[in-house]
Amino acid sequence: MPELFTWEFATDPYPAYAWLREHSPVHRTVLPSGVEAWLVTRYADARQALADQRLSKNPAHHAGSAHAKGRTGIPGERKAELMTHLLNIDPPDHTRLRRLVSKAFTPRTVAEFAPRVRELTDGLIDRFAAQGSADLIHDFAFPLPIYAICDLLGVPREDQDDFRDWAGMMIRHGGGPRGGVARSVKKMRAYLAELIHRKREAPGDDLISGLIRASDHGEHLTENEAAAMAFILLFAGFETTVNLIGNGMYALLRHPEQRERLQRALARGDERLLATGVEELLRYDGPVELATWRYATEPLTLGGRDIAAGDPVLVVLAAADRDPERFGDPDTLDLARRDNQHLGYGHGIHYCLGAPLARLEGQTAIATLLRRLPDVRLAGDPDDLRWRGGLIMRGLRTLPVEFAAETK
Ligand code: HEM
Repeated sequence: MPELFTWEFATDPYPAYAWLREHSPVHRTVLPSGVEAWLVTRYADARQALADQRLSKNPAHHAGSAHAKGRTGIPGERKAELMTHLLNIDPPDHTRLRRLVSKAFTPRTVAEFAPRVRELTDGLIDRFAAQGSADLIHDFAFPLPIYAICDLLGVPREDQDDFRDWAGMMIRHGGGPRGGVARSVKKMRAYLAELIHRKREAPGDDLISGLIRASDHGEHLTENEAAAMAFILLFAGFETTVNLIGNGMYALLRHPEQRERLQRALARGDERLLATGVEELLRYDGPVELATWRYATEPLTLGGRDIAAGDPVLVVLAAADRDPERFGDPDTLDLARRDNQHLGYGHGIHYCLGAPLARLEGQTAIATLLRRLPDVRLAGDPDDLRWRGGLIMRGLRTLPVEFAAETK
């Protein structure tokens, strides 16, 4: 039985997941926090679990009620005002809130935002293109989604660097100064509450104004609900996108033949391989390694194992997406892969609300980097790269690259 949650595991968890899929597909384990949980690693079981209404998202169902706290990994969510967000609630509350936010956050809102994402992407590359080297996490993958979501929400440009600092503190997961995370969450909460108040007085055509305006059978979001919603949009859409760009570029840099194929397609103006390619990058080494916490509300059987009421269940998306029962040659990166119904965005009623925005950002970021830095390559030894710890997300701390400097 391979060891889980060690440093080697964080670097490459896939061999351990292959072992689990084969020998113990629904596996009871003790997490580094000491909490016991079931890990679900086969594709068919994972899909079933993600859609099973007997698995609640409400932490109050956890048998170890002493631990009954928010566990989505979103900093500050234990604060009551931010607890009631989509990933912590079940129908009918979930249905109501999701319907309301879906009215403001539509695929059309996202499509109209495409030129701004291109502008942001080029602007960030402009800052380092003449240098011949960069850290693609710090200089690119990290700022892009934070500025994008701030723009979309309607945070004025002059305040966006504050957001960048607060978000930077939170993503370090306690690695920053003591109390820094709590302070950043507090500042962000206070800022959002104030902004929502201002937008109520003077609405614009941004997402926060849309959230305030959205109504369902005459019902509106309260200011607290709107603040919690803005907060989850920021957080569900931030580290995930950083990791999509980071893990995605890393996979491309390690598979030169695939990346050259994509560059040739882009040079011909053919974006089909870009679309299938970004889906494949999500399957191959996606940003969300484990789906967020679920709790059995009644005894149930999954993959032949009996799960007791109150037991936490963690669906391992990264393992399911490499299941040979579902994907041919699952450990091979194939940007043109067909029939690629991966679980990188989840499945069922909690399916990622931001998937259209994530696709837009991921495709724009990767295509623009490959066009503007055609010979981009890893700087240094891949063995020296470090992965950020954390149960739910999978992403690199840094991604140093070199390239021929752009001349004006
Ligand atoms: C590459 C980027 C992304 C990935 C891989 C991703 C992945 C996921 C996954 C796996 C879930 C389901 C979690 C579960 O069932 O436990 C989810 C839910 C969610 N995502 Fe994303 N996400 C991404 C980007 C975004 C963006 C950009 C936004 C918004 C701005 C966003 C907003 C949300 C929200 C609000 C939910 C909760 C939906 C619900 O509970 O109904 N995500 N995401």
